[in-house]
Amino acid sequence: MEEGLRICVLTLSTRASRGESEDTSGPALCGLVKELGWQVVYYRILPDDEKSIEKELIRISDEIKPDVILTLGGTGLSPTDVTPDATKKVITKLVPGIAEAIRYKSLEKTDRAMLSRGISGTRGTTLIINMPGSEKAVRESFEIVCSTLPHASEIIKGQVKDCGRG
Ligand code: MTE
Repeated sequence: MEEGLRICVLTLSTRASRGESEDTSGPALCGLVKELGWQVVYYRILPDDEKSIEKELIRISDEIKPDVILTLGGTGLSPTDVTPDATKKVITKLVPGIAEAIRYKSLEKTDRAMLSRGISGTRGTTLIINMPGSEKAVRESFEIVCSTLPHASEIIKGQVKDCGRG
């Protein structure tokens, strides 16, 4: 039976990890994923610590092997925003178009979209995508990328013979 994409959601926020603020973005995204009939196989909140993020991305990609890891937050310009820096260290193949599309289409909503340093790329058969962290940004970013994710995942796994059509 086709069960749809297997998705991991990783919220990066020191305050949310300490329980000082509520993570509304992670649960909202999990809801959007499930609405598409896909599975959320893992959801966790981690602090903005580059080494921990790096280790967790490696562990998830190599052990859980989801189709996609969506990271939320920590993509901005503050000294504590380190998500793209950790992601860069673990991906083996950069997929710039996904992050470019998120920024480009998000600029229609807010000029501040240019302040996200999010990147995207693959590690093994997992696609890792950084998204900005507010619930609004997460909803907007997911809407931009979701329709392309099944095809991206098929290509990553070598299941596509001819992708010139459609
Ligand atoms: N992108 C979308 N689609 N919608 C948004 O509201 N917010 C921007 C930007 N990208 C935003 C967005 C803002 S205000 C910032 S500071 C950066 O993402 C970085 O966000 P982050 O630090 O939560 O990752």
